[in-house]
Amino acid sequence: MKRPLRVAITGASGGISSSLIFKIASGEMFGNDQPVILQLIELPQCLDRLRGCAMELEDCAYPLLHTISMHDNPEEGFIGVHFALLIGSTPRGPGMERSDLLSLNAEIFSRQGKALNDYANPDVKVLVVGNPANTNALIASRNAPKLSPSQFTALTRLDHNRCKGILANHTGVNAKDISNIFVWGNHSTTMYPDLSHGKIYDKPLFSQVDRAWYESEFIPKVQKRGAEIIVAQGRSSAASAAQAVVDHVRDWTIGTPSGEYVSMGIVSDGSYGIEKGIVFSFPVRCDYGRYQIVQGLNVDEFSRTMINITEQELCQEREIVSDLLPNETEESHNNLTICLRSGVTLYADGRGPESAPPYLKTDRVI
Ligand code: LMR
Repeated sequence: MKRPLRVAITGASGGISSSLIFKIASGEMFGNDQPVILQLIELPQCLDRLRGCAMELEDCAYPLLHTISMHDNPEEGFIGVHFALLIGSTPRGPGMERSDLLSLNAEIFSRQGKALNDYANPDVKVLVVGNPANTNALIASRNAPKLSPSQFTALTRLDHNRCKGILANHTGVNAKDISNIFVWGNHSTTMYPDLSHGKIYDKPLFSQVDRAWYESEFIPKVQKRGAEIIVAQGRSSAASAAQAVVDHVRDWTIGTPSGEYVSMGIVSDGSYGIEKGIVFSFPVRCDYGRYQIVQGLNVDEFSRTMINITEQELCQEREIVSDLLPNETEESHNNLTICLRSGVTLYADGRGPESAPPYLKTDRVI
């Protein structure tokens, strides 16, 4: 049996986590042979509800669930963690944009970045889900000087999965037959779902899908899907977000299927001319616990215009939270060319898995 992985989840009793923690405990995220320790973090006033979740987890008698611990602060909850899923934040309501949450949630992520820096495993992999996810990930990363910016990611897999689901429904194919589609930029209404490299049954997507439909209906639908769900059910997406979290972390850890791209919000290293140091969704491939930006894709005029819009929004968001971005970490974020993150999970005693070397230096760009 493998040694258990420690997984911290903030907002652990909320809507997304209510699906997510059961998926993790059942092995959906890390595989059927990987035990987990769940370090569940909630606000003090939500601890009773969290205790209810913990009881239900216990009652499932999952063979892979090693331990559950409950915490009312991130400093304690992040001790020794290999993965941190930052979900807890104020959600938006009907009529709000995700960026309206910037000032409400920014402080949460600067505290959590500091706590990860001080208490997490040095090789921790971080996924930010709380909105606005890209800029919150940037705040967390900029407040963690001991960690590499490459260890911080934001969730755009939800948008990526939405693209596949909506396309599958429109074309009548199975979602698994659609490949190499991805999302650029911000998890906001400016995100750009790019189908121009996509394939259906390994044939060019645009030989099978009408370009006018793509531009006038598909793009706005994906961009506004989160808001559409809030209006329909009175609260933001939960089960689909939980599935996207599982997909993001599983692919990052176990690897993407050969030849396939996925979307991840990561600190920009300037690839495709994107402003360095913002958290931007790129097409990536993952292997050996590392991600690499897919390089060399053609960006036509339409795509460049769309990419510029979402890039500008992220630069503006960075400006708004500049007070929470310490100067100390500016250099490391603006000059990210080599990923020094090991890609190998280290344990508290500094050892990695038996068969792998503890450190692996890698160029993040293919
Ligand atoms: C989503 O995209 O469903 C979530 O980010 C929630 C939201 O506010 O849209």
